[in-house]
Amino acid sequence: MIPTEIIHQKKLGKSLDTKELRKFLDAYHEGDVTDYQMSAFLMAVCLNGMNFEETYTLMDTMLQSGNKLAWPELEEGAVGDKHSTGGIGDKTSFLILPMCISEGVKMPMMAGRGLGHTGGTIDKIESLSGVQTRVGEHTAKKWMQEIGGMLLGQSTEIAPLDYRLYHLRDVTATVESIPLITASILSKKIAEGLKHLVMDVKTGSGAFLAKTSEAQEFAKIAKEVGLRAGLNVSCAITNMDEPLGRNAGNAVELAEVLELLEGNIGFAPDTYELSLELSAKLVQMCKPDRNLDEIKQTIRTKTDSGEHLECFRKLFANQGVSLVELDQLKEKLSKLKQKPLIAQSSGFIESWNTRSLGLAILALGGGRKKADESIDHWVGLTEIKKVGEEVHKGETLCMVSYRDDATLGDAMKILSTSCSLSSAKQSPKPLIHEWI
Ligand code: URA
Repeated sequence: MIPTEIIHQKKLGKSLDTKELRKFLDAYHEGDVTDYQMSAFLMAVCLNGMNFEETYTLMDTMLQSGNKLAWPELEEGAVGDKHSTGGIGDKTSFLILPMCISEGVKMPMMAGRGLGHTGGTIDKIESLSGVQTRVGEHTAKKWMQEIGGMLLGQSTEIAPLDYRLYHLRDVTATVESIPLITASILSKKIAEGLKHLVMDVKTGSGAFLAKTSEAQEFAKIAKEVGLRAGLNVSCAITNMDEPLGRNAGNAVELAEVLELLEGNIGFAPDTYELSLELSAKLVQMCKPDRNLDEIKQTIRTKTDSGEHLECFRKLFANQGVSLVELDQLKEKLSKLKQKPLIAQSSGFIESWNTRSLGLAILALGGGRKKADESIDHWVGLTEIKKVGEEVHKGETLCMVSYRDDATLGDAMKILSTSCSLSSAKQSPKPLIHEWI
């Protein structure tokens, strides 16, 4: 196997032999192919794609590069998870965990850090100090039995090849690729020992798969790769032509989650409804005897009664979060410096360039521009106006929480062209376009 020849073949758009591709990937994992060679390869894949066999081989090589979890002590078929392809303001994991655990689903949720312009669940939870998201198998099993789930960060033990490629793609503009996203997500999810996976496949201006046709193609391939590996996958194609909810960033998203779990659904009904739909689907996949409408009704009742908030607090406390710190989160956020993004004319919100919002958060320091950079968890956007809402010239489109004036200037420049207004009221796009 000659690395440059593999890169050259992909550059020409040719399909790679399964054995050669596996050797190339293994050589990278073992340090015999360099980061710069792999970056060139990833760019060639972004530009020229991979066929199904290559995609499966990439996924399987990532999977085999580490350990696999198994849950023989748990009810057969009850282990499930949800994963998103990435968006802005996408905090549904924090709602889906308590919603599904309360219905008896066992969730060893493995989440990532921010990728490209999108946020990551692990960065969000790490807004709070002391969080433990890397645990050994013994502890994971104990938590699954005692609590019913957990939030795990990817370690060097689970799909370590994906771990390295994920970080490399993040800083080489090689995220947007159907085979790379498919292999990355499914290798981790299959390694988790799941039977069922709900995928939130985002499409629109803030998504990696911006066109609906790309999201649909991704969903079909993800289902097929899952099927071959024994994982039951359902994909919701969901709207990312505006951020989800009112807040986008890290700690500010946790604040939105708390509002919703405390029963203030009106704060961000879209975040709640999407979490509910994805949860209900996963519960039904794990418990096929249950009726979807009945599951949704039960979930709503349990949010109203405070059961989900209690489960969320238990989960967080179990992972090392101080509940006193959690209770002080909203107060701490209210002390940050804030500046409004002002509407320059009157009208109705037509759309957001959602990717720009992610880039503005990056500019504020809320995401990484280089691998392993530390981030400022407290900066972000709040009070984001939603599509269809009316604003008058001089009113606020969103609030920007920031730490220093230099980063604020860059963020405001990006944000200045991020919102389109129209003279007629627009209806928001459906949260879920379709299920595949
Ligand atoms: N989430 C992942 O885990 N990997 C990707 O490539 C994109 C989103």
